Parts: sequence; structure tokens; C-alpha cells
Amino acid sequence: MPIISASGLARTFTTKAGPVHAVRSVDLTVMPGEIVGLLGPNGAGKTTTLRMLTTLLAPTGGAATVAGRDLTADPAGVRERCGYVAQSGGVDPHVTVREELVTQGRLYRLGKAEAVARAAGLAGRLGLGGLLDRRTAALSGGQRRRLDIAMGLTHRPPLLLLDEPTTGLDPGSREDLWDLVRGLRDDFGTTVVLTTHHLDEADALADRLVVIDGGLVVAEGTPAALKAAHAGSPDASLHDTFLAITGRTPAAAEAAPVTV
Ligand SMILES: Nc1ncnc2c1ncn2[C@@H]1O[C@H](COP(=O)(O)OP(=O)(O)OP(=O)(O)O)[C@@H](O)[C@H]1O
Ligand SMILES: [Mg+2]
Repeated sequence: MPIISASGLARTFTTKAGPVHAVRSVDLTVMPGEIVGLLGPNGAGKTTTLRMLTTLLAPTGGAATVAGRDLTADPAGVRERCGYVAQSGGVDPHVTVREELVTQGRLYRLGKAEAVARAAGLAGRLGLGGLLDRRTAALSGGQRRRLDIAMGLTHRPPLLLLDEPTTGLDPGSREDLWDLVRGLRDDFGTTVVLTTHHLDEADALADRLVVIDGGLVVAEGTPAALKAAHAGSPDASLHDTFLAITGRTPAAAEAAPVTV
């Protein structure tokens, strides 16, 4: 049984300038324990897709089952079973790391003592153990990102959706995060869907890649299969593969946001 099964998922925004077709039609199947990378240029529809899958945004078309619950019929059930780390972190700068984590636990209805214990456990796992009493405003970018991820793990969700979790992290912190994602999968069977603009990261971490462009899935497969199909060899670079699929280099895609 897939943990995510989406068909024809779509979202059109109504704006003063007219409709924006952010996601036109996304079919997505993710199996339990998979690490799936969502790739695509700026404005492709990755964040909009994740926000729909986590019930933060209502689809305007299509249907999906997430962690055994129907997206539209049981959004609360979906929310209980997935953790979401948004593209730009949402932590409150005025509280400490400990307070932020305990509050998150309480939001998920943990008892006080359990929330405190879980905060300490998560902080340890994310390398924040020594920073529990630091105000979140004083965290570095990488520490803040790790706090975002700790918050997404508070309720031990079987499915974790991470939107650009490593943007702004130094190379060492990035690799620590890869180890964390692999560890969650290996130790708890957690399924992880993440977006990234770092193709080396997608290559190293993801079992399978889904490339979105213009609100549509334009390619998907294992990194080796995508390379073979689009760049001529399973040993080709993912950079050349991305260029062949989207017609843009990832750097150019980052430099020139596409607005539909
Ligand atoms: N609330 C909104 N109202 C109008 N348009 C929106 C809204 N949210 C997103 N869009 C548009 O939908 C499209 C897809 O945006 P989305 O954030 O999903 O892209 P993305 O693939 O995550 O891009 P990036 O790599 O830059 O994060 C863009 O053209 C964006 O401007
Ligand atoms: Mg995005």
C-alpha cells in the first residue's frame, strides 16, 4: 500500500491578474520507507504540492490518500500522520529552543512531562542538545533549520515532508541532515519526501526522483534510470539530466524564477 497516492492533484490560485495554475496535474505514488526527492525549477509547483499533501492548502482538482487518510475527507487524520517542515522556517524568535519544542509537543497533545522529555530527545538527535536554553533568535541558520526539523518530528509521524531542508546549510550540516534522514528511515521506517535544488543531494539521498515543471510531473524514476533515459547513461551527471528534462540548468533555474 502506498503511503502517498495522489492523482490529478491540482491547484489554481485566483489573483487580480487572473488565474495562476500553480499545480496543473500531479500524479504521485510513494511507498512506505522511500526517500523521494522532488526536483524542479523555481515556481514549478513543488511547495504548492507539499502544502496540498499536508492539508495546508485545499486542492482545486484531483484526489489523494496520505498515510491511509483521504486528503479532503479526513484532513485532521492526515495532519496527525505527517510532519511538515516549510520552506522558510516558522519559529518564534522570542522563545528558547526548549520552549519551542515543548510547545510543539503540547500542540500535539502530549502531557507536560512527556513533551519535556521528547524535546530533550529530539534536541539530542538533531545536535541541539547544548542549545536547549538558547533563544531561537540567536541560532545560526543551520541550527534554526535543525530546530524546524525537530519540530516536524515531534509527533513521530510515519511520513515527513521537507521543503528545501538544506537550503542555507554549510556542507557539513547538509551531510548531517542526510544522515538524519537516512537514520529516520532505517530506525523508524519513516517515509521522507523532500524538495531540493541541490542535485548532488538528490543523487546521494533519494531512492527516487520526481521532476516537476510547470505544475506537471515531467519525469520520474531512480537517479540512475533518469540519467539513462534523459542523458544517455546511468553514469551521466544529474545536472545534465535535469538540463535535458527541463531545458534549464539548476543554477539558471534558481537565478531566474518562473512566474506563470
Ligand atoms: N498564494 C499564491 N497565490 C498566487 N500564486 C501563487 C501562490 N502560491 C504560489 N503561487 C505561484 O504558483 C507557482 C508555484 O509556486 P511554488 O511555490 O509551488 O513553486 P516551487 O516549485 O516551490 O518553487 P521554488 O523552487 O522557488 O520554491 C509560482 O508561479 C508561484 O508564484
Ligand atoms: Mg518552493
